[in-house]
Amino acid sequence: MKIVVTAGPTREHLDPVRFLSNPSTGKMGFVVAAEAAKRGHNVVLVSGPVSLKTPKGVRRIDVVSARQMCKEVLDAVGSPKDEGERVAVVSVAAVADWRPAVCASVKLKKHQMSSELKLVRNPDILKKLSSKIARNNGFLKLVGFAAETGKPVKEAARKCREKKLSFIVANDVTEPGAGFASETNKVSFVFPDAHIKDLPLMTKGKVAKFLINEVERLF
Ligand code: PMT
Repeated sequence: MKIVVTAGPTREHLDPVRFLSNPSTGKMGFVVAAEAAKRGHNVVLVSGPVSLKTPKGVRRIDVVSARQMCKEVLDAVGSPKDEGERVAVVSVAAVADWRPAVCASVKLKKHQMSSELKLVRNPDILKKLSSKIARNNGFLKLVGFAAETGKPVKEAARKCREKKLSFIVANDVTEPGAGFASETNKVSFVFPDAHIKDLPLMTKGKVAKFLINEVERLF
């Protein structure tokens, strides 16, 4: 099957040298892509700015902003049913929900900046994809991640319903050794029927193995 993985942060620039972003390093998404490629799937990795090597057998597309990531993911997914191809999207990226309303083409001088920054909403990539699920009837499956700091399973379950996901990986980033930048992670898989699978603390590579097992079961 084709597996489209997103990884890393997005950057939302207010001028060429300043941006809004988050601490995602891409580690979790890259090992998911590596594991899927190792099993022979056709893997497209759409990554925000990170300093990681492309895993073997993976087609990588680099982006900066959420809007660029959205375009590349939609292009990579295509029309699965028309093309007779089963496609799973695993959205690991920490996509910025907001961007500055205006991005200057040259570096702003301090005196040109205000103490208030006007923001506008970015597209929600998974929500856009969820509108394609009915039309692609069984050929398109969506899997999300949710980095949370309180009630991770409850919040993840809400996102799972809202974005019509097959399941979501709840990631309590307040747990030691879990979340952004670490080599390990501690996650729970939350399914739409409220079934929950808790995994102990393990390397991100091992989380990726459990995750791809579940993705393979979806079809
Ligand atoms: O990269 P690492 O340093 O290894 O860190 C891994 C991680 C902490 C980034 C990863 O494990 C993780 O939890 N990723 C999800 C980050 C997050 O907080 O997602 P969210 O709750 O904002 O969004 C929920 C889901 O919707 C995610 O699958 C996200 O990719 C997707 N989304 C979010 C916003 C948006 N505009 N479009 C989206 O598709």
